[in-house]
Amino acid sequence: MANNLLQGKRGIIFGAMDEDSLAWKIALKVIEEGGDLVLTNAPVIKRFGSLEKLAESVGKKIIYADATSVEELDHLITESQEILGGKLDFVLHAIGMSVNVRKKKEYTDLNYDWMQKTFDVSAISFHKLMQCLYKADAMNEWGSIVALTYIAAQRTFPDYSEMAESKSLLESFARSFGYHFAAKKVRVNTISQSPTITTAGSGIKGFDEFFNYADKMSPLGNASSEACADYTVSLFSDLTRMVTMQNLYHDGGFSNMGMNPAILGM
Ligand code: NAI
Repeated sequence: MANNLLQGKRGIIFGAMDEDSLAWKIALKVIEEGGDLVLTNAPVIKRFGSLEKLAESVGKKIIYADATSVEELDHLITESQEILGGKLDFVLHAIGMSVNVRKKKEYTDLNYDWMQKTFDVSAISFHKLMQCLYKADAMNEWGSIVALTYIAAQRTFPDYSEMAESKSLLESFARSFGYHFAAKKVRVNTISQSPTITTAGSGIKGFDEFFNYADKMSPLGNASSEACADYTVSLFSDLTRMVTMQNLYHDGGFSNMGMNPAILGM
């Protein structure tokens, strides 16, 4: 049920890797709503070939860029505007990776070099991206920048490990840069999404049990990736022009629950 909410708008989508990626679901929805886009991901993803197939299926270009490299971000932003024919209206940051989680390090025994890398990829990349967009004056007025986050930024979910601090940092960057970008009439928000079965999500220990727990705890159940795509499109659209510097829960009500009798089978 498309409504042409993004007709004439153009932007960059970070983080689509395979067909389960939240970013891929969002890219599809953006196209369905009339938007034009460039896909981007880390150069290492080229090896898997999955993004190439996805891009081909919708006739969109990929520009590979490591989101931790300011030079590669600058190049991406310049090239994207050339391909799309003008300044950008929307940008999605859907990037997350924890080295310590990958290497199964316990929270009480973290490697700090890996932690730095985790913060750089998962959070500082968002500041780098916004700073590059800002300096290049690459966003149109009333443009919208969105990053995906998780409630472990506010509450403790032990197995989320250092990704919790990454998400806190990410959300803080959205607030702080949102202030500066408002001078250019550009909004910046984070969407705090329910657990969703994707490559990044499933990398967290005990993810399946946790997914089921969150689904029961949330009065509306877990928000699906398709619903996340709908919500993201609304934030890219002109219907939400005065929403900025917010962390917006998209979680079926999970964040405001204390106890749900459904958990106890009552
Ligand atoms: P995903 O694994 O499909 O996406 C993560 C992406 O980050 C991948 O495409 C990966 O290639 C990219 N990436 C990693 N390092 C990069 C770098 N240096 N430069 C550029 N890109 C890089 O998984 P998913 O779940 O779609 O993740 C997207 C976002 O959603 C992440 O920020 C994640 O933390 C967030 N999120 C995911 C939830 C879940 O349960 N799956 C819940 C809430 C938020």
